[in-house]
Amino acid sequence: MHVRVQSCIAVTPRVNVYALAATSGRPLPPYAPGAHIRVRVTATNGMQELRSYSLIDPYDPAQPYRIAVQREHEGQGGSVYFHDHVKAGTEIDILPPSNHFPLNPQARHSILIAGGIGITPIFCMAKQLQSQAQSYELHYAGRSIPEMALHAEVTTSLAPCWRIYTDDEHAQSGMSCADILSGYQPGHHVYVCGPAGLIQAVRELAQEHGWPESAIHFELFSNPLAKQAKDGDIAVELRQTGITLLVQAGTSILDAVAAAGIDCDYDCKVGECGACLTKVIDGVPLHRDFYLNEKERQKGDAMCTCVSWASSEKLVLDL
Ligand code: FES
Repeated sequence: MHVRVQSCIAVTPRVNVYALAATSGRPLPPYAPGAHIRVRVTATNGMQELRSYSLIDPYDPAQPYRIAVQREHEGQGGSVYFHDHVKAGTEIDILPPSNHFPLNPQARHSILIAGGIGITPIFCMAKQLQSQAQSYELHYAGRSIPEMALHAEVTTSLAPCWRIYTDDEHAQSGMSCADILSGYQPGHHVYVCGPAGLIQAVRELAQEHGWPESAIHFELFSNPLAKQAKDGDIAVELRQTGITLLVQAGTSILDAVAAAGIDCDYDCKVGECGACLTKVIDGVPLHRDFYLNEKERQKGDAMCTCVSWASSEKLVLDL
């Protein structure tokens, strides 16, 4: 899908908000809060890659999509490409929205927790819940107010169901996830997006406070379990294709397969969506995703190739 950047606004020193409209002039496809689009960018290695960015506003066919891109110097170059090359008037390719972080329509109360740039899908959820007069509360944490990409929008366009937390000298109190999650009631759902440490803390505390797994929703930007120092290189035989790849520790099976020119499906690349799930014919996968449940992991006959590794020296995949 071809879109043109209508505007590019620097909302913090590291975050630009881009408004994207279809070059055809027609409405863009609909989506629900929590959705993201994938944008084709050029990574530092010169390869064309897809990067996922959450949509900031509830869908309105008359409005452009808005995404926020934070410049990440340690990343693989997607955000740097965006900041350096994508301006108002630039035309880019995107894939239609997809969503593995949807709101539960049956929720009686939604607790929304955002850390840093994780505010983008959370803000969309808050706007939608507010427009439907549904019960929610928003907790938004960042280093300092000038570094919080949607601080102005949260504080001016949402009813005061929000609390802002910062780490700087203006901080009144830090965000206590334990306090936020202490009063679970049936019908309550919690949604968290932000750094991996925040997501992990919310998941653990929610479980400690009796939240059922089905009421805890999260969206990852990176997977802290992937690429571990103790990993060794592995051989990956692609049975259908008839080739064997040597996949080096610190990389991913999915990237190696794609680099070999083999078409494989993927979306999040953090082990969350299951799009890259691949049948394992032989070998022992080391599961590092958040998609498979314990029973499926133990079966060991499928794995998410974007993040999972192997405890055997060789894997045989049905690719
Ligand atoms: S691409 Fe989403 S789980 Fe692998």
